[in-house]
Amino acid sequence: MSRAAVLIGLSGLAALIAGASVRADVRASLAAAAGHEGAPLFEQYCFQCHGPDSAQAYADLSAAPAAERSIAQLRELISKGRPEKGMPAFGAQLSPLEVLLLVEYLHVVQGRPIVEPPERPAPRPPDPRRERGLELFRGKARCAECHSLLGEGGFVGPDLSGVGKRLKGPKLRRAVLRPSARIAGDYRAVVLETRDGRRVRGRGRNETPETIQVLDESGELWTTWFKADLRSFRWDDRSLMPDDLRERLSQEEFLDLMYLLRRVE
Ligand code: HEC
Ligand code: HEC
Repeated sequence: MSRAAVLIGLSGLAALIAGASVRADVRASLAAAAGHEGAPLFEQYCFQCHGPDSAQAYADLSAAPAAERSIAQLRELISKGRPEKGMPAFGAQLSPLEVLLLVEYLHVVQGRPIVEPPERPAPRPPDPRRERGLELFRGKARCAECHSLLGEGGFVGPDLSGVGKRLKGPKLRRAVLRPSARIAGDYRAVVLETRDGRRVRGRGRNETPETIQVLDESGELWTTWFKADLRSFRWDDRSLMPDDLRERLSQEEFLDLMYLLRRVE
């Protein structure tokens, strides 16, 4: 079962049996009956000490304090244990997914709904400078016409997600201000002239002795040209990216844009 399927299946199940009126042992058997993968893991690794027949006070994980711990705390407790108190560490025997399945299983048994997948990152605090950078990227600076970022934008140039990690320090600045100094692989320009005198310049790929493919300006359509039908054809050392950004943005706007590019994942 995929991770998403586990979560969806489980939140449905948890919602169904989350009422306080349902006893923990009933929830446990429901979860097992529904095929939750945490149930057999619990049976195998935890039952001997945390099963209902265990006489110790720590045995019951369906109630407080275990039922009040966060997902992160439960993951840590299972992975690292509390060896000095008799709770073994399972981090070496169980994979991270198995630990997570156990945490989810405990939630079901505890009657707690699973509000959000544990891996979901915390919401980003507002950052006005980043917002200004994004506005420029999509608007005045016109970067989005050719580049995608955060899943939106064009395809003439490379996706710029994580570009601040790929191009560090002055390299990023140079790529933005002097695009032709270094052309990103696979994004070279070709210039061709058709027999009826039309000039086309665009991103080229898949050259063969007879043909060349060129991406049109909208960045959506690849056209295959037969060289025999062309008046001229050549690769171009200049980038398709405009190099007049300095003239189009103020210093402050430029810095906001760089701020965005350095940070955006
Ligand atoms: C050999 C016995 C033993 C096994 C096996 C065992 N535990 Fe424990 N567990 C303990 C003991 C003892 C404690 C109490 C530790 C303490 O008092 O701090 C404990 C505590 C815990 C707690 C913390 C309860 C709380 O909130 O303070 C969690 C959660 C837990 N165990 C989960 C598991 C899971 C899940 C498994 C199976 C992967 C498991 N344990 C297997 C003995 C065991
Ligand atoms: C007309 C299309 C076009 C526009 C508009 C454009 N770019 Fe580009 N950009 C490209 C192409 C094509 C490349 C790849 C060739 C190259 O490296 O010059 C590129 C490369 C880059 C690179 C290097 C990426 C890498 O992985 O090496 C960065 C950074 C970049 N652009 C940023 C920007 C920013 C910021 C803007 C807006 C100010 C922008 N671009 C506007 C077409 C464009």
